[in-house]
Amino acid sequence: MSHNTGIVIRMSTNSPESSSSAPRVTVIPGDGIGPEVVASAVRLVDAAGGRIAWEYADAGAEVFKRGIPSGVPEETIASISSTRTVLKGPLETPVGFGEKSANVTLRKLFETFANIRPVREMPGVPTAFSGRGIDLVIVRENVEDLYAGIEHMQTPDVAQCLKIISRLGSQRIARTALEFARSENRTNVAVATKANIMKLTEGMLKREFADAAVDYPDLETWHVIVDNAAHQLVKAPEQFEVIVTTNMNGDILSDLTSALVGGLGFAPSANLGTEVAIFEAVHGSAPKYAGQDVANPCAVIFSAVMMLRHLEQFEAGDRLEQAVLRTLEDGIHTKDVRVGDPVGTQAFTEAIEARIGQVSSLAPRKRQPLKLPRISREDARVEPASRTKVGADVFIEAYEEPDRIAARLAELAVGTPYTLKMISCRGTVVWPSTGGSTSCIDHFRCRFVITDTAKWHQESILELLQRVGRVYRWMHVEKLENMDGEPSFTKAQGEN
Ligand code: NAI
Repeated sequence: MSHNTGIVIRMSTNSPESSSSAPRVTVIPGDGIGPEVVASAVRLVDAAGGRIAWEYADAGAEVFKRGIPSGVPEETIASISSTRTVLKGPLETPVGFGEKSANVTLRKLFETFANIRPVREMPGVPTAFSGRGIDLVIVRENVEDLYAGIEHMQTPDVAQCLKIISRLGSQRIARTALEFARSENRTNVAVATKANIMKLTEGMLKREFADAAVDYPDLETWHVIVDNAAHQLVKAPEQFEVIVTTNMNGDILSDLTSALVGGLGFAPSANLGTEVAIFEAVHGSAPKYAGQDVANPCAVIFSAVMMLRHLEQFEAGDRLEQAVLRTLEDGIHTKDVRVGDPVGTQAFTEAIEARIGQVSSLAPRKRQPLKLPRISREDARVEPASRTKVGADVFIEAYEEPDRIAARLAELAVGTPYTLKMISCRGTVVWPSTGGSTSCIDHFRCRFVITDTAKWHQESILELLQRVGRVYRWMHVEKLENMDGEPSFTKAQGEN
């Protein structure tokens, strides 16, 4: 067995069915503590009777050092494309060997759009929340939102990051959460958004979730504003079963929820797409613990349990999960659990192995296979009956007072079909004056409306930009449309 020289296939030996019928899984040991905790998980999956043909592959620090800027070599991509299931250790993104994260590369390359992060109160792991029966799952959208990574310096002093939320992405993640709840016999699904502020982007998930929920009358579904969700998760976490949310919100909330049950050492995750599923701990490579036999392997072991369930090996999954819970219940744990005497990663793994076949006080949940929604771009598309151009937002860099900018822009627009309606700075109207005292920076959004519709044609915007450009540096333009008679853009703060 090797994970440094390309791919080595090793069959599970403990299983009575270790034959060609065993599904193949690409296993990436990863960096730092990765090889230790992944070895523990692989050994225990085999011991619990999981039928897996492990296929070892590389990604991460060593690969960056070989000069492959993505951190993921071609043979690993080929292996994943063929096995379609991955058990992965944490991967470092070393500074100086390329900017891209190998983790993000893998998630995006295989469009694993759903990130499932369950947390459950662990027996023998005392926390401030012990006894509350926390057992909840964050379903995080995994490929869109601010993580699309589209950022620009719009002026030397103003940065912008685009938050991209699609109807397809929202429908997929909403239905995945609802299907996931059914697959685990859970009855309550909350959608957590900031739709009150970001009506079009966060609002998209809120609306698509509400539409999808109609098809799930057996589930209790509700909306919670995401900041209140954070508050409620600390105040009364037991009220939640499944929370579906956008990428950034899910990133933050899921770190919070892992702390409720004992920390990163216990937090597993699944990255699911319709083609490929990647199972990994939420934690990183914890380099200070690498090779010291102190890391907690539970997060990767529970990720492997999720993998067994994904492969519909429910009995092996339950057997392994029960053995881990029983081991913790017996007071055996690693150093990160700050009570009693800890044992090392190796001894902890052996203790779990010795308990395979035993049960814990936490009975396994009844589960069915998860049916991931298959929604095409065409399925998700909404075609408005009418789309009317009504104006344009032109973003400019300027160092003058708003009244002065307005006077010059109004003059520049004379003779075009556009009239200046308002100017905002960081989203708040600064012209016409609202009487407020908004402090301005060098970045203004100038909203022009089409007032001469007879004169307007597709190229009119170019004429307007040319004229604005004579006086100001414009860096960005958004066309404004009404769809089905309704504005498809939001108003600025203070705009009438
Ligand atoms: P980290 O998760 O590696 O470590 C944070 C702290 O959590 C550590 O100091 C350690 O005390 C503790 N910890 C984490 N896992 C543990 C375990 N299994 N047992 C005991 N203690 C554990 O996060 P950090 O330090 O921000 O990142 C280190 C490296 O990992 C970075 O290069 C980062 O890019 C990478 N990373 C990779 C991820 C992935 O592959 N999915 C996720 C997060 C970070």
